[in-house]
Amino acid sequence: KRIVMLASGRGSNFLAVASAIAEGKIAGRCVGLIVDRTGTPAAVRAESQKIPVTTINYQDFQSRDEYEAALSAALRSMNPDLIVLAGYMRILGFSIIRENAGRIINIHPSLLPSFAGLNAHRQAIEYGVRVSGCTVHFVDEGTDTGPIILQRCCAVNEDDDESTLSDRILALEHEALPEAVSLFCEGRLKIDGRRVFISEE
Ligand code: GRF
Repeated sequence: KRIVMLASGRGSNFLAVASAIAEGKIAGRCVGLIVDRTGTPAAVRAESQKIPVTTINYQDFQSRDEYEAALSAALRSMNPDLIVLAGYMRILGFSIIRENAGRIINIHPSLLPSFAGLNAHRQAIEYGVRVSGCTVHFVDEGTDTGPIILQRCCAVNEDDDESTLSDRILALEHEALPEAVSLFCEGRLKIDGRRVFISEE
């Protein structure tokens, strides 16, 4: 399977997937990383893994539509079977989502449907939940609303702040995202309405 990843920042989830691919744990290869800004650690990490990086700098475009058109063209040229949003901090346009229905997945640092959108860790702490975690889900036209593939949970402690909670959740993300990518690449995920069924090996 041809995997394209999108990232905006640090790239630790990108690296977790790229490492699992390098270790032969995923039946696919990463044919490219697309970043939406210059100077991301994610791009540096991809280059060190010899994965081609395409920068589509949001700020270079006059409008959101023009940015989306450039992103769409880049994606088409890579002909992906799977698009992985690994810390991609923008909402994908509807046309890209429709064109790639059922083959875009996202990682989110909360137990959805709680705490969708930005600042998920802060939302969880301020709400006072005792458990949180991460969710890997298919992307639909809403924000963090698509069918859920995998979730991992952890405690939220009384002395947690955003930084300690995000560290704990990030370790779970680095397990869950490669696992979900692997399941997808093995053809083991079936979407049925809101639910995703995982078939046996
Ligand atoms: C992760 O917490 C991810 O869940 C969120 O953005 C963060 C990206 O981290 N969507 P990284 O760039 O993968 O290190």
